[in-house]
Amino acid sequence: MALCGVMASIGGLHHTARGLEVAMRHGTRHGSDEKLRAVYAQWGMVSILGLQPAPAEVPCELPRRTSDRAGCRTLAATPPSYRFPDVVMTQRRFLRPLPYFAELERLLEAEEPAIRSAFGRHVHWGYWPDPARAGTGAGEFERAADALSLELCRLAELDDGQRILDAGCGFGGTLRLIGERHRDMRLTGLNIDRQQLWRASDNQRDNVARIPFVQGDACQLPYSDACFDRILAVECIFHFPDRRAFFQEAFRTLAPGGRLALSDFVPSTLLRPATALISLRPASMGFYGDCDFTYTLEDYRRLADGIGFRVGVEKDITVNTLPTYRFLHTLAGVIRARRLSAVAETLFAEAASRTGLLRYQLLVFEKPG
Ligand SMILES: C[S@@+](CC[C@H](N)C(=O)[O-])C[C@H]1O[C@@H](n2cnc3c(N)ncnc32)[C@H](O)[C@@H]1O
Repeated sequence: MALCGVMASIGGLHHTARGLEVAMRHGTRHGSDEKLRAVYAQWGMVSILGLQPAPAEVPCELPRRTSDRAGCRTLAATPPSYRFPDVVMTQRRFLRPLPYFAELERLLEAEEPAIRSAFGRHVHWGYWPDPARAGTGAGEFERAADALSLELCRLAELDDGQRILDAGCGFGGTLRLIGERHRDMRLTGLNIDRQQLWRASDNQRDNVARIPFVQGDACQLPYSDACFDRILAVECIFHFPDRRAFFQEAFRTLAPGGRLALSDFVPSTLLRPATALISLRPASMGFYGDCDFTYTLEDYRRLADGIGFRVGVEKDITVNTLPTYRFLHTLAGVIRARRLSAVAETLFAEAASRTGLLRYQLLVFEKPG
């Protein structure tokens, strides 16, 4: 009897969560947020106790697809990554939601126009081919953010008909650009944070081809071997729990001749000890959350070589990204949460970038054919 009671309440919980998710999909999601958080909190506890429903019934459609438009089979044993109110649990460790995304979410909900324009689709630095002529408006920043994605895609030699994974896809802006510019692409977005995936999904509404968005950890890709032609990781690898694990997974899931293209803030050997020290601070203290900026170009070359990738492109675009900082300073007034750390961390990155100690790099690695 007692067991039946427990099962019934688990089932009830499951259905409540399902109902709330359906409500979210139909536009009432903001009103239900508090309730939803409460349900996830309880559901998280159920998961911890090992009492979660069978995989097919996990109340989470995003990570449980059996196949997607990329033609990849997602593995049945998708690594568990359960959304909690405050933490995301993966097999490797607990990942806290990034504080800057929480603040972005608040400002996007408040329909703050500059934030909506600048960060509604991309959450990365801008790229100005001619930085001397850069202005500071949000519209211009939006175009520069598009330009950064497009420059990385150009270097990765994207072409019609390819199967593309955007790992750490955020709000899906890069995939949307690719979908608009190419034909017959099979696009997939993966991100650890489900909240962002809802927004990414919304962002695709006016797009012709629907893009599947999957919740998961880039270091444990829920895909079969050799099923992508290109894997992108735009300004997110420093958040991943383990660069080596991500490279191994990218190598495994890329077809022969495939390419991994990423952007990262790469320290000089002189700055490395300082970034290593900063990485040790509790992530909960900062605005940008858990970041690891300790990987030098030499580290990347060694890593690629050890895994079997050839280094294809190393492009330093630091000067082309510098106008980003001027734009970010104009936002200081709208940021409420952790304003002090937001300003301090941004100033540190700016000073290190302007002095050449921190370089913004676009990197492409090729899996031999
Ligand atoms: C700076 S944002 C970049 C987002 C997107 N690539 C863009 O350019 O707009 C970093 C992204 O990495 C995601 N992320 C962090 N850790 C991750 C992980 N282990 N697996 C997948 N995504 C992750 C975050 O949720 C966030 O969306």
